[in-house]
Amino acid sequence: METVHDDPANADAITAGDPIRPAAPDSRLAPQHPQPHARHGLIRTFHPRRGRASATQADALTRLWPEYGYIIADPHHSYHTPEAAPDGPFDRERLFGRRAPLVLEIGCGMGEATAEMAAADPARDYLGVDVHTPGLGNLIALAEARGLTNVRVARGDVLFLLRDGIESGSLAAVHVFFPDPWPKARHHKRRIIQPDTVALIRDRLAPGGRLHCATDWAEYAEQMLEVLSADPGLRNLHGAGYAPRDAVGRPVTGYERRGVRDGRPIADLVFEKIGD
Ligand SMILES: C[S@@+](CC[C@H](N)C(=O)[O-])C[C@H]1O[C@@H](n2cnc3c(N)ncnc32)[C@H](O)[C@@H]1O
Repeated sequence: METVHDDPANADAITAGDPIRPAAPDSRLAPQHPQPHARHGLIRTFHPRRGRASATQADALTRLWPEYGYIIADPHHSYHTPEAAPDGPFDRERLFGRRAPLVLEIGCGMGEATAEMAAADPARDYLGVDVHTPGLGNLIALAEARGLTNVRVARGDVLFLLRDGIESGSLAAVHVFFPDPWPKARHHKRRIIQPDTVALIRDRLAPGGRLHCATDWAEYAEQMLEVLSADPGLRNLHGAGYAPRDAVGRPVTGYERRGVRDGRPIADLVFEKIGD
């Protein structure tokens, strides 16, 4: 089985020239590829990309990362040089400066939805997670511009954060908006909504906590509905089907706009963790 770390392209998340961790002059931080390692069963759910940060995003990353950002430890990577080292154990109170109900957004992209929802919901904290740095820069620039104190970002594979950093029963909600659809059948194993991942997310949710997914990929929507409905610890808040778009309070994102433009229907699913 191919795993996250068998793929050298995964090294793109932490590289030299990264505004978060400026490259050392002696180039010890040149991009390095992960060395072979023991397989550990986590499949890469994201597309490796090397998009450049815009000037605004790079500026936000340089100035604001110490306050807003957290780097997720990947215990199987061997390229953790001091400058690119992950942060210590995930400590949400330290990151946010308070203890409030926490909403985790998996694959926050450019962070438009995260910023919008956090602005409308100041009593809860919002953590946007992605492997791609420019989008995180965009989100913290939005947070600064809007004066949002309840937004933070984490860079890296959210599966490690969920597995190793988030306590059982501790999340108020998990948002998965327009996850990579991996349309080819041989790539379906990379979809983030799978029984195992959903069981992990459900475990990390507090009783009554919500898992909200959205997609513009009809066949993935069916898979989501099947997988979420089959999880014994989750309950569909909208009968046996999809949630009405106007009932979910989710801002429109770039991916949604593109799906609508291309004539794809949008499906929202909102499930709740059944209380103990
Ligand atoms: C198709 S984009 C959608 C972005 C955003 N939610 C929106 O609606 O515009 C999916 C995002 O999920 C991120 N992603 C996928 N798997 C991830 C993982 N395991 N950990 C962190 N981010 C992940 C990708 O990097 C990508 O930015």
